[in-house]
Amino acid sequence: MRPSTDAEPGQRLDWSILPRLWPYLRDHRRRIALAMGCLLLAKGAMLVIPFIMKHLVDGLNVDSGVQLAGHVAVVLVAAYGLARLSSVLFGELRDTLFGRVTERAMRTLGLTVFRHVHQLDLSFHLERRTGGLARDIERGTSGVSFLLRFMVFNIVPTLFEIAVVVSVFLVNYGPSYALVTLASVIAYGWFSFGATEWRTRFVREMNEADSVSNTRAVDSLLNFETVKYFGNERFEAQRYDVDLERWEQARRRNRLSLFGLNGGQALIIALAQTSMIGLAVYQVRTGVITLGDFVLISQYMIQLFLPLGFLGFVYREMKGAMANIERLFDLLEVRPELADIPDAPALTVRGGGIRFEGVSFRYQAQRSILDAVSFDVAPGRKVAVVGASGAGKSTLVKLLFRFYDPTAGRILIDGQDIAGVTRASLRQAIGIVPQDTVLFNDTLLENLRYGKPDASDEEVADAVRMAHLDEFLAQLPDGWQTRVGERGLKLSGGEKQRVSIARTILKRPPILVFDEATSSLDSRSEQAILAALREIALDHTSLVIAHRLSTVVDADSILVLDQGNIVEQGSHRQLLAAGGRYAALWAAQQEQQALPPVPQ
Ligand SMILES: Nc1ncnc2c1ncn2[C@@H]1O[C@H](COP(=O)(O)OP(=O)(O)O)[C@@H](O)[C@H]1O
Ligand SMILES: [Mg+2]
Repeated sequence: MRPSTDAEPGQRLDWSILPRLWPYLRDHRRRIALAMGCLLLAKGAMLVIPFIMKHLVDGLNVDSGVQLAGHVAVVLVAAYGLARLSSVLFGELRDTLFGRVTERAMRTLGLTVFRHVHQLDLSFHLERRTGGLARDIERGTSGVSFLLRFMVFNIVPTLFEIAVVVSVFLVNYGPSYALVTLASVIAYGWFSFGATEWRTRFVREMNEADSVSNTRAVDSLLNFETVKYFGNERFEAQRYDVDLERWEQARRRNRLSLFGLNGGQALIIALAQTSMIGLAVYQVRTGVITLGDFVLISQYMIQLFLPLGFLGFVYREMKGAMANIERLFDLLEVRPELADIPDAPALTVRGGGIRFEGVSFRYQAQRSILDAVSFDVAPGRKVAVVGASGAGKSTLVKLLFRFYDPTAGRILIDGQDIAGVTRASLRQAIGIVPQDTVLFNDTLLENLRYGKPDASDEEVADAVRMAHLDEFLAQLPDGWQTRVGERGLKLSGGEKQRVSIARTILKRPPILVFDEATSSLDSRSEQAILAALREIALDHTSLVIAHRLSTVVDADSILVLDQGNIVEQGSHRQLLAAGGRYAALWAAQQEQQALPPVPQ
C-alpha cells in the first residue's frame, strides 16, 4: 500500500475523480439543481447591489443634475434591502439543500467501503494496518464532502462572478476595467497556484511530523504496561519531545511560507485595486463616468477579490481531497481473490460429513504447509487432529471455512465442494471455537449474543451454564453488563475461551470445530467443559484440534499431522498399540504432568 499522504507537489488536479463520484450523487440530481439555482439567485442579488448603489449615489449627488424623486429613492432603498436579504437567504437555502446531498453521499460511500472491506480476503486483513485503513476511509469520505462543497460553493460561483463582472465592465465602461480585472485575476491565479505548489512541501512536512508524533504517542500509550514495567516514562517523554520539536519547526516553516503566499496575493490585489481606483478617479474628474459609476466599480472590485482570496487555499485542499478520494476508490477496486462463483447454490447440510481430498496448501509459494492431506469425518462423528505447533492444524480449519482455497485437492461437505457453494451458507453450517478468541469492545452479553443475535435470555443462560461461565459471571459486580475492553483484554485467556464456547453453543451449527478450544483452561475446568462439549457434539460432526492428547482420547479417529502430512491415523487404542509417534507423544505428556483421570 502507498503511504497515506496529502497531494504530492507537481501532481495535477485529477478531474477524472468526478465521474467516479457521480453514482453517489445521481439520486440527488433535483436537489443539486435546486441548490445551484439558489446559488445563482444569491450571486445575482449580490451583483445587483452595486447597480442600486450607483443609482442612489448619482441621484443624491446634486451636481449630477438627475435629482432623485422621493418615491424612486424609497424603491431603490427597498430593492437594496431585498437584494441583501435574498443573497443571505438563498445562500442559506443552498447550504441546507446541498448539505443533504453531501451527507447522503458520504453515508453511501462509507457503507460501500465498509461492506467492501468485509468482503476482502483474510490475507488482505492480515496485511493491512487498521489505523492506516481507518484513516484512509475517513479522509476519503471527508474528501468527498470537501470537494463537493468547494466545487459548488467556491469554484463555480467565483468563475461565474468573474464572468459577470468582466462583462458589466466591458459593456458599460469599455475595455480598460475589464482588462485590468482579467489581468489581475490571471496574475493572481498563476501566482497562487505556483506558490501553492511550492508550499505543498512544507505542508506535507508538517503533516508528516504531525502523524509521526501522533503515532509515537499512541504506540507509547498502548504499551503503557511495558513502559511501567521498565520504568521508562522519562525515556518515552524524551522520544516524544524529539518528535514534537520536529513538528514545531515544520509548523514554523509552514507559517512562513503561508506568509509568502498571502503577501504575494495581497500585493497583486492591491496593485489591481489601486490602478482601477486611479483610473476611476481620473475618469470621474474628466467627466467620463459619474460618481455612481465610481461606487459601482469599487464595489464590484471588493466583491470579486474577496472570494478570489480563498482560491489558493481551495486549490491546495482540493488536490489533497482528490488524492484522498482516489485512495479510497483504489481500495474499492481491490478485488477479493476468493468469491462465490456466480449463482452459487447454498450448502445443504444433511449429516455434516466432511471430506478432505488430497488437499495441498501454501501461504507463500516457497513454503508448503499442507501436502496432499486426505481424511474423512463421517456425519455425527468426532475426528481429532493432533501434532506439533506449526504443523498446519489451524490451517486445515481456515481452509474448511474457505478463508483460502487449497492449491490442490478439494474439500467436500456432504458431497458438495465448498468452493461451489456460497460462503455465507458454508460459514452458517460451521461453528468454531478458535485458538485465540478476540471479543468486541462491548458487554459480555452482547459478545455472547453474537453467536445468535436473536437468542432469548434463557438460551443465553443455558449456553453460559454449559460453558461454565456462570460461576465467573456471579463474581462480576456488573454481571452480564460487564464491558470486556478492547479485543476482550479485560478477560483472562480462559474466560475468553469460555465466552467463545458459549457463543458457539448458542449458534448450534451442524458442524463443530474446536481449535485448541480449552488450551487456556486449567485441567479441572477443562474436564468440566469437555464434558459439556461432548454432550453438545453428540449429534454433531466435530473436528477437534488439540495440543493436550488427553482431551481427544474419546475421538472416533485421531490424525497425527506432522509438517503438513498425516503420518498416523486411528483410534486412541490403535495408535497406542501401534507404538508410533502418537504413542511416544502420549508417553511424554503422561510423564510431563500428572494428568487427571481420563474418561474412557
Ligand atoms: N497467513 C499466513 N501467512 C504465512 N504463513 C502462515 C500464515 N498463517 C500461518 N502460517 C504458517 O503456517 C504454519 C502452520 O500454521 P498453523 O496451521 O497455524 O499451525 P498449527 O498447527 O500450530 O495450528 C506455521 O508455520 C505458520 O507460521
Ligand atoms: Mg493452531
